[in-house]
Amino acid sequence: MSIIYQRERKLLTIETENTSYQMQIDGNGFLHHLYYGRRIDAAEMSYLHVNADRGFSGNPYVLRNNRTFSLDTFPQEYTSFGVGDYRINSIAVTNGDGSYAADFRYLSHEIMPGKYTIPGMPTVYDDRGEAETLVITMQDPVTKLTVKLYYGVFPSTDVITRCAEIVNNGQEEVTLLKADSICLDMPFGKWDLVHFHGRHCLERQVERSPLIHSIQTIASKRGMTSHHHNPFVILCDHRADEDHGDCFGLMFMYSGNHKTEIEVDQLENVRVCMGIHDAQFRWKLSTGESFHTPEVILSFSSQGFTKLSHNYHDLIRHNVCRGKYKLAQRPVLINNWEATYFDFNEEKILHLARQAAELGIELFVLDDGWFGSRNDDNAGLGDWFVNTEKLPHGLTGLADEVNRLGMKFGLWIEPEMVNENSQLYREHPDWAFAAPHRSPMTGRNQLVLDMSRKDVVDYLYESISKLLRESHIEYIKWDMNRPISDVYSHGAPRERQGEISHRYVLGVYELMNRLTSAFPEVLFEGCAGGGGRFDPAILSYSPQIWLSDDTDPIERIKIQYGSSFGYPVSTMGAHVSASPNHQTGRTTPLKTRGVVAMSGTFGYELDLNKLSAQDKEEIRTQIADFKRYYWLIQDGEYYRLTDLEEGSFYTAWQFVARDGSETLVNMVVNSPQPNSLLIHIRLKGLDPEAVYVLDNDGSRYSGAALMYGGFTFPLMSGDYPAEQIHFVREQA
Ligand code: DGJ
Repeated sequence: MSIIYQRERKLLTIETENTSYQMQIDGNGFLHHLYYGRRIDAAEMSYLHVNADRGFSGNPYVLRNNRTFSLDTFPQEYTSFGVGDYRINSIAVTNGDGSYAADFRYLSHEIMPGKYTIPGMPTVYDDRGEAETLVITMQDPVTKLTVKLYYGVFPSTDVITRCAEIVNNGQEEVTLLKADSICLDMPFGKWDLVHFHGRHCLERQVERSPLIHSIQTIASKRGMTSHHHNPFVILCDHRADEDHGDCFGLMFMYSGNHKTEIEVDQLENVRVCMGIHDAQFRWKLSTGESFHTPEVILSFSSQGFTKLSHNYHDLIRHNVCRGKYKLAQRPVLINNWEATYFDFNEEKILHLARQAAELGIELFVLDDGWFGSRNDDNAGLGDWFVNTEKLPHGLTGLADEVNRLGMKFGLWIEPEMVNENSQLYREHPDWAFAAPHRSPMTGRNQLVLDMSRKDVVDYLYESISKLLRESHIEYIKWDMNRPISDVYSHGAPRERQGEISHRYVLGVYELMNRLTSAFPEVLFEGCAGGGGRFDPAILSYSPQIWLSDDTDPIERIKIQYGSSFGYPVSTMGAHVSASPNHQTGRTTPLKTRGVVAMSGTFGYELDLNKLSAQDKEEIRTQIADFKRYYWLIQDGEYYRLTDLEEGSFYTAWQFVARDGSETLVNMVVNSPQPNSLLIHIRLKGLDPEAVYVLDNDGSRYSGAALMYGGFTFPLMSGDYPAEQIHFVREQA
């Protein structure tokens, strides 16, 4: 049992393998947050909290003679605006009478086996029969507005998920102005904030800074997860590193506007609120209606970042990703984008496919440009039928020919977008977002379809499922190439326009859900101009996401490094591309490109015509190596061996098999030096008493030697050299 209620003390305790989370209901129905952190078993933590009279922090009316209790200072689970908690709040409403008050008091709670779900939204699910759910119901005594707080507990990964349901049980309409998924109060400790920022082609860069006495915000108002701020933050001890220190992770399972606020208040308490961004958010709740927030995946490690990452990796692989390819071996692919861009025809594509098949590549992906009048990025989006001038035998003919070569066939789509120069737009101009009498912003010369509309989602479902029914397509790359703006639905009344941004995301989930359910054999890969929509919600429909449009391996190291804090390598689309690289112009060896792309889903994206016979031979070896190490890489424990923030001239990372039988160390010199220092690393996750044999030369090392003494690479020179070394544990 991972959720315990002690009736006499009104104490609710959640326990995972290594963590505890505790709350208490007081005599007035206020729900106190007592503790979250390292496991404390049965201890009651209320002794930690000492009430005191704090100037300018008022007292609830019911406690007016006791000036030591204030909503403005005590740690809470879900906090509302307008009734005396001046810190950041989880919820803000306007009531039927125009007032802003919402004062939630405990009504009841329920403990249930299994994991709750959320209507219309993806959630973490239980596949090990271990999860439990706690629902705490709170209500405003005047308006009867009700908040149900959901807690899902996954003991083996030290994960607690949280979300909220807001129910209008009153007689009058209520408008939600803000509805977060979580409030986490951290009353003690000095914390650093780690977050993952970036831009197109440089996603998820790690930034760590001490919290300051202010409200810091990590957010996206782009209508999408964004390249700029991933909805994942870590609060860690000032001294925390990979192997030591307390770390709290909060990851938002959502793909639209999001906002994480972190406040250090007057008493140096830290509060974190995470949820849908309240910009342009207004949700009307009539009597009896409910609003569900997306969920937050919370985890805690007292052993530094590595353990926290392992918790998320394990959870995402087993409890977020779904379907046939969740754990099955995925094919090595070739994508024609950087080989041809829009300039292709059937002959060119088949020539590339034949060469790919000869190299042992297993899946051919036809990228953008195969449909409608799409010869560049100004036209055609929305017209999901094949361009027979380019592909005279249609997708069916092409897919069959690729299949005859022994490869699967995959296809690129961008369902949520439309070009003005398209048949779809000419027929349905009102299906695109645009405020009345205004010209909308364009991005890549395209407009955004109004996914809040049922007719739009139905059209897309029909046109894409037709493609999947008619041709033998075994993979779909689902792209999205601009941020959202001009959010206005021509299918919704004036007073509902504040709901459209969220309804857009719900429409995307509905389409993804319908397509992935109807075509369970198809491998879906998410994409948004690379990693602009890299989040756990998308991962529940597509077990891999194209990580970035930057395929330069030296830049990729940084992107893969940052992403690895929250996401497993099995989710990271990674390809070997041409040198010089198309994004940066940098020249790198094929080996380096292979080593980096192998720490992802692995594939190729370059013009094979331009390769020498020697390069082709090397590619054959890379594919064989990748397949040999497949499970070690995709399912092994991942360790970051160097800290990119320290500016080291090389980067190293390691995979250790779950049964400890082998390990793969990867090292890339990202900043070659003259008269170079030695490259020395300490391995992790080995059995200190076991002996490990190095593949290359059969030399033997004890696990203790490799972990405590380390390993020194031979000196290397030239442009960005890389090494991959594999050790096998000797049978005892
Ligand atoms: C952006 C993607 O990230 C690229 O890989 C490619 O598919 C282009 N879009 C095609 O327009």
